[in-house]
Amino acid sequence: MPELYIGLMSGTSLDGIDAALVNFDGDAIELVDFLYAPFSDPIKKRIKNISQADRPILLSQYGSLDTQLGELFAKSAQQLLNKAAIPHSAVTAIGSHGQTVYHAPNLTSPFSLQIGDPNIIAELTGITTVADFRRRDVAAKGQGAPLVPAFHQAIFSGIFDLSQQPVSIVNIGGIANISHLTEHNVLGFDTGPGNTLMDEWAQKHMNQSYDERGAWAKSGNADSRLVKHFKNDPYFTSEPPKSTGKEYFSMGWLESKLASFPQCTAKDIQASLCQLTADTISQAIQNHAPLTEHTVICGGGVHNEYLMQLISNTLQHPVSSTAEYGINPDHVEAIAFAWLARQTLHNLPGNLTQVTGARKPVILGGIYPGEKGY
Ligand SMILES: Nc1ncnc2c1ncn2[C@@H]1O[C@H](COP(=O)(O)OP(=O)(O)O)[C@@H](O)[C@H]1O
Ligand SMILES: [Mg+2]
Repeated sequence: MPELYIGLMSGTSLDGIDAALVNFDGDAIELVDFLYAPFSDPIKKRIKNISQADRPILLSQYGSLDTQLGELFAKSAQQLLNKAAIPHSAVTAIGSHGQTVYHAPNLTSPFSLQIGDPNIIAELTGITTVADFRRRDVAAKGQGAPLVPAFHQAIFSGIFDLSQQPVSIVNIGGIANISHLTEHNVLGFDTGPGNTLMDEWAQKHMNQSYDERGAWAKSGNADSRLVKHFKNDPYFTSEPPKSTGKEYFSMGWLESKLASFPQCTAKDIQASLCQLTADTISQAIQNHAPLTEHTVICGGGVHNEYLMQLISNTLQHPVSSTAEYGINPDHVEAIAFAWLARQTLHNLPGNLTQVTGARKPVILGGIYPGEKGY
């Protein structure tokens, strides 16, 4: 029986909420409608303030932001249904990723924290809501991330003949992650910063939330010694399973690396950051997925033309956007969380142990019943 789900995603870029209405019919996955709800500047600021590592925050700030984001997620789901002219009763469930405010999978007491109260989403929409996907994987001793590789396998195995052509899917959001798909296996991990450091630097020096098409980076020259210094960070050579976040690849990280490069201009630093993202993605593919015959990219990083060009220049095989296969690169992650919610309601695991390092496959998330239960 076909089933409709909504996936809600807001990633580490803090750009806004992606909402996807998805129809699942057997193995077929069809996007019915999509809505993007950008965050206002005050909301972005509040999320940024709360996500700073090692800075005290008030519990009241945390609690009210959790509520406010829950309301915004609910609103985007309602707007999506209005746009699609679909009644809420037709939707089986919402999968809400939530907003990551801290991802710390390697502490002695590890955790990954996403906020945007799912009680509010279920209450305001009347639709059963699945949320808090990552913590069950962390509880099973996994990294809690990345969670999209299982979905990438489900959707791209229907597009590529993986027995003939191993493929790497790269999602370039604030953080970048790779899924390497072969006929019998899936590898996956976070490669490091995607757009986050470039975004922070463009905000600081250009007062823009991102470097449009990568034009500013392109106008500079990457400083090879600085890029090497960035790449000396132990994250890049550590073995998977591994995942990371904005609290690690932060402005503080960047400033500490820049301390010994006072002569570097702002645009050369932007060019070096773009090179860092391109090199660490390319090297992840070359070192961990050398059989890749095609790299397919999704996430907002696809719109950074200079970044795409740098990645293509390094890899010896074709590099393209998921758009070439009929999937808008800005839709993939939200569709993934609709898929993950469906896995949960079908009592199926959503994690891949070889990706997250969890000791077993687990059914992810908490279920918040809709107006008629679930
Ligand atoms: N036109 C563009 N030019 C350059 N970069 C872009 C463009 N559009 C989006 N981006 C990048 O994509 C990011 C958003 O990507 P997204 O996939 O939503 O990431 P996340 O999942 O972290 O929210 C922006 O912050 C920006 O860095
Ligand atoms: Mg986003």
